[in-house]
Amino acid sequence: MSADRRVVVAADPGALAALVARKFISRTRASIRKHGTAGVVLTGGSSGAAVLRAINESSDRDSVDWSHVDFWWGDERWLPRDHADRNELQARRALLWRIPVDEARVHAFPAADDGLDLDSAARRYAEELAAHAAPGSVLPRFDVLLLGVGSDGHIASLFPDRSEIRGQAAMVVPVRRSPKPPDERLSMTLPAINSAERIWAALSGADKAAVIGLAFAGAGAQQVPVAGVRGRRSTVFFIDAAVAAQVPDNLIRPED
Ligand code: 6PG
Repeated sequence: MSADRRVVVAADPGALAALVARKFISRTRASIRKHGTAGVVLTGGSSGAAVLRAINESSDRDSVDWSHVDFWWGDERWLPRDHADRNELQARRALLWRIPVDEARVHAFPAADDGLDLDSAARRYAEELAAHAAPGSVLPRFDVLLLGVGSDGHIASLFPDRSEIRGQAAMVVPVRRSPKPPDERLSMTLPAINSAERIWAALSGADKAAVIGLAFAGAGAQQVPVAGVRGRRSTVFFIDAAVAAQVPDNLIRPED
């Protein structure tokens, strides 16, 4: 693993969420200082939701000017807008309804009751990304992109040994027959994910350990999608002690 891929260990899932939340807050503040705005990409799943709850609970929460933050999602579950399992709704409940966001900067994926089919919805999100693209790019600047990781190594809605994880020109793809419910999803592709300045994957629990061990042992992205993530500046795996058991000691940095 090269120097720009790091592993940081927290004692337990609670400490992990608090650590990622603390770093997310300071990074977001720093990006706003530097660029005037910050672009962040959220994820679905329990680890991602725990991070958002920890941001909300942080005593530093209000040190960020949230109205200058663009919120994007790495993937979405193809469900009606107010379905409890929608990643957008989970993020709104955990954080976005509790901070003064600028709704024009909350870039949620289309929902299943918006009157679009899945393919058009994927195209629509790609257009939304392009409409906010950085100069010379089809994507906005993502200062931090959060990821959860499945026990099969999936990230966003990119599952092992499927067409969506293979070389893609598209930035957003429809996903059908998803191994994880619901059946239909929308996802950024690996090139879109890897355009982020910083990728922070948060994962806890013994069932995630094997896949992280494989990724660090050099597995390919097709078999273990998380093995393919590389942020432009850095890639950090925030893991708990249960996952750390599978990671060679020389890759691990103590919690900082
Ligand atoms: C989703 C995701 C998915 C998730 C992982 C990890 O919408 O389901 O974005 O990629 O992040 O499955 O989920 P957990 O943190 O709940 O294990």
